[in-house]
This record gives sequence, structure tokens and C-alpha cells, in this order.
Amino acid sequence: MIDKETLKQKVLSRKPQSYWLSTTEETEYPALNEDIKADIAIIGGGMVGISCAYLLRNENLRIVILEADRILQGTTGHTTAKVTSQHNIIYSKIQHQLGNELARQYAEANESAIKLITTTTKELGINCDLVPQYAYVYTQEDKHIQTISDEVRAAADVGIAADYVEELPLGLPIKAAVRFANQAQFHPRKYLLALAKEITEKGISIFEESRIVDIEEDGPYLLTTQQGKKIQAKKVIIASHYPFYNKDGLYFSRIYTERSYVVAVKSADDYPGGMYISYEDPTRSLRSQSTPEGELILVGGENHKTGQAKDTLKNYEALIDFAFDKFKVEDIPYHWSTQDCMTHDSVPYVGYFAENSPNLYLATGYGKWGMTNSTASAMIIKDLILNGKSPWQDVYSPSRKASVTSAKSFIVENLNVAEKFIAGKLSPPDSPLNTTCTHMGCELTWNTAEKTWDCPCHGSRFSEKGDIIEGPAVSPLEADHDVNTVEKLIKDDF
Ligand SMILES: Cc1cc2nc3c(=O)[nH]c(=O)nc-3n(C[C@H](O)[C@H](O)[C@H](O)COP(=O)(O)OP(=O)(O)OC[C@H]3O[C@@H](n4cnc5c(N)ncnc54)[C@H](O)[C@@H]3O)c2cc1C
Ligand code: FES
Repeated sequence: MIDKETLKQKVLSRKPQSYWLSTTEETEYPALNEDIKADIAIIGGGMVGISCAYLLRNENLRIVILEADRILQGTTGHTTAKVTSQHNIIYSKIQHQLGNELARQYAEANESAIKLITTTTKELGINCDLVPQYAYVYTQEDKHIQTISDEVRAAADVGIAADYVEELPLGLPIKAAVRFANQAQFHPRKYLLALAKEITEKGISIFEESRIVDIEEDGPYLLTTQQGKKIQAKKVIIASHYPFYNKDGLYFSRIYTERSYVVAVKSADDYPGGMYISYEDPTRSLRSQSTPEGELILVGGENHKTGQAKDTLKNYEALIDFAFDKFKVEDIPYHWSTQDCMTHDSVPYVGYFAENSPNLYLATGYGKWGMTNSTASAMIIKDLILNGKSPWQDVYSPSRKASVTSAKSFIVENLNVAEKFIAGKLSPPDSPLNTTCTHMGCELTWNTAEKTWDCPCHGSRFSEKGDIIEGPAVSPLEADHDVNTVEKLIKDDF
């Protein structure tokens, strides 16, 4: 059996690498090299963008996907890929904040998404390791037992068969758990790369390395890529994860980003099946993944706002400690982290970008539950485009009214952004790069584990050389730095 500290050193000296990316081919779609016209332009080739295009593929519309980098390498390429309508404690929360009818819409949308992923997998014959599973939210504390039992009741109210259980197959000591049947897990890139192949065969164009840096509204929309190419589109779907376009939406004050970590553990224990997440902090999430080299247990958790952790190596270390506590760990061949967009009431923003934008659509804010939510988003946006309405549009509406709880969260998060903005200005970092975020000017922080510059305000991230890794920023860091010093910094770190 390998010693924990030796394994930690071995793991953390390697670059983080997602299992999903390591086991699938990188795509090579061309960059856009001319001005074009389209009926629908989709900005972003993550799970949302690809799923929207897939559902619209037979509608005789000229559709293009514009991807900043390579498709399916963003959050979708680094997820844990539980395909479930169980989004930690959610139904009692939505009932309380927005009422039972909207909680029912949310349940129906996400249960329908599981069915759609399952039937699509069968119809296209996709080998994406889709396996049915039970999903559990558990608590190890007496004080949260009531929350668990409230969620079982709320789930029943909205039509989901949920059980209250006091033991887990996993053998973790718990006080209570809510269990959903008929949930699933899969390999997200195997599923979505098959969808990408299918849509291109149906005539949809995917352009990679074609970041959209500007959207102008003038009759049809006019999008501009970083290379200066123009796309004139009648309708636009913003599927770029964090929306970089802000007109009338005030999204920068309504969305914040949170990172989490995953370690993929090879263990001598037999994993009993099931997908698990703790209710209380620190969050711990578990699922397994079968691989040709044996089963991996994906251990996730360690949330923090982007750019607001002191030393992100410690987050991986905490997960490795947890894995050693619970399992006979033999190796950790993969570890990775990623971030998701969070809303103040834990419900995504999907639908018309603003009340006065009938041809501009948005899908974001999945709160780390984007596998079913992005599939549901594609169903909603398809319905809005083709029929002008969707049965689930009210709960997801980006223009919905804030509840009292979400208004409080709005104030707390925006005070946090203001504080980070001011703190950065008072104490400029000791760095050879110009580390002021090109989005709205917050000071970036160095992410020790990923070797990136991360923004504590809205979550933009930049490589060690200043290239954009993720938005909302659309411009790289200014190149007024001493490249030799940056290269030395990187060598010293790895
Ligand atoms: C650690 C972690 C674990 C998770 N586990 C689960 C889970 O088990 N189950 C679950 O349901 N959900 C999970 N999620 C959430 C889920 O992975 C995400 O919600 C989902 O992948 C988001 O998909 P997306 O298409 O919105 O974003 P992305 O996959 O990030 O795609 C957005 C794309 O847009 C591109 N883009 C950005 N800006 C531009 C631009 N200006 N022009 C052109 N393209 C642009 C990006 O390059 C990217 O490819 C998890 C999230 C985290 C952080
Ligand atoms: S992402 Fe908004 S200021 Fe950096």
C-alpha cells in the first residue's frame, strides 16, 4: 500500500488532467476564416451549445457554433458527470423561495433531461459508459436530519420518487439521506463528441478557436470573432458559460463562480455503486467510473469562490486525506478542478437574455448541476425558438423576481466583489505580469495548483502567459511583461 504523503507528492507534482479529456481525442474543427450569415449562432461549444444544436439539427435552419478554444474542454470536460435531477437539497429550497409550481417545473425539466440523454444514447448507439445509479444526499449531523426529511417530502410533492434512508451501501456512517432512483452517470465527452459528429453530419458548422469578442444589435445580430470575422445571425444563443455580454441583463451582479476539485482514486476496495454527496460542508461527492485499467472512484469537493483560495494545492490534499480515510488507496492517476456559475437562488438562468430581447437567448448558472440542466436548457431554448413558449420557462426565466433569500445572497456576493476590487488595488501583487483582469479591472490571484491567474470578481482565468482560459474576459492580459521572468516563475513552480 502506498504511503499517503508519498502519493500526495507524486500527484501534486503532475499537471492536473481530467479523466474525460485524457481518454478522448481532441477535436480539430477549423477556425472561422470568412464573414458568414446564419439563422442561429451559438456562442460556446460546451454541453449547452452542443445540446442546443443537437435538438435543432432537423429544423432546416442554418446553425453555427462559435467556440473560443476547442469544444467540450471547459467545465463540461472537467465535470463529475452525475446525470441526476437530485441537485443536493433543491426542491424544498425552490418550494420555499419560488413556490411549488416552479419546483415542479424544475423537477419535470431535469427528469425529462435524464430520459432524453438515455434515449439519445440508445438512438445514436453511443458508447458513453451510461450506467443507471441511485443518487444520495447524506448528512452526518443530527441537526440536518430535518432538512433531509423535508427534501424527501418536497421531492414527492413535485413527482419524484425519493426515499428517506439511514444507511448507505458505501458504509459511510450517516444520520440520514435522501435517495433518488433511476438516476445515472456517464462519460460526458464520449456522449457529447458523438452529438457533435451527428450535428456536423446534419450540416451544422462548428468553428473552433473563434472567440466572440463583440455582439452588436442592429436588426440581425452582428458577432465579431477575435480574428475580426463577422457573423450576421437572426438569433443568438449565449452558451459561453459566464455571459461576457451584459446589455440589460446585469449578469455580472447576478452570477458568481465557484471552483471544486476531483481526485480519481484507484482502490483495493470494491465500490458498491451509487452517487453520493454530503449536505454539510466540506462538500464530499463520490461516484465511480469503470475504465479498461479497473474502476476509479471520483472523489470531489472543496468548493471556494474562484480566485479566493490561499493555496489550491491544499484543496487537492484535503480530498486525498478524505480518500485515504475512507478507502484503501492504491493510486490517484488523475486529478483536476473546474468552476461553475452560481445564481443567488440556485436555479439557472435559461431563456430570453432580457425581456426586450426576443432573439437573444441565454443558458447559464447551473450551480454544479449542469448535465441535466444544460440538456433541459436545450429543450427550453428549442421550444422558445420554434413555439415561443416552453412548459418550464417560468422557473428558469432570467427575468424572474428575486426571492428574499436570493436578494440577501445578491447583496453579500456583490459586497464581496467590491471588497476584492478594492483589496486588489490596495495591495498590488508581486508579479512580472500585468495582473489586472481585462474584464472589469479586478486584481488577479495566482492559483498554485493550476498555475493560472484567477479573478476573484467574476471568475475569468488566464494562463501563466496571459492567454484567456475562461471568460467573461474577452481580451488576454496585456503583454507588457518580462517573458523570461514568467518562464522562470513557472519552472520554479513545477
Ligand atoms: C467540479 C465540478 C463538478 C461538477 N459535477 C457535475 C455533476 O456531477 N453533474 C452535473 O449535472 N453537473 C456537474 N457540474 C456542472 C457541469 O459540469 C456544468 O454546469 C456544465 O458542464 C456547464 O456546461 P456549459 O456548456 O455551460 O459550460 P462549458 O462546458 O464551460 O462550455 C462553455 C464553452 O463556451 C466557450 N466560450 C466561452 N467564452 C466564449 C466566447 N466569448 N466565444 C466563444 N466561445 C466561448 C468556452 O471555451 C467553453 O467551451 C460540475 C461542475 C463542477 C465545477
Ligand atoms: S472577471 Fe470580472 S473583473 Fe475579472
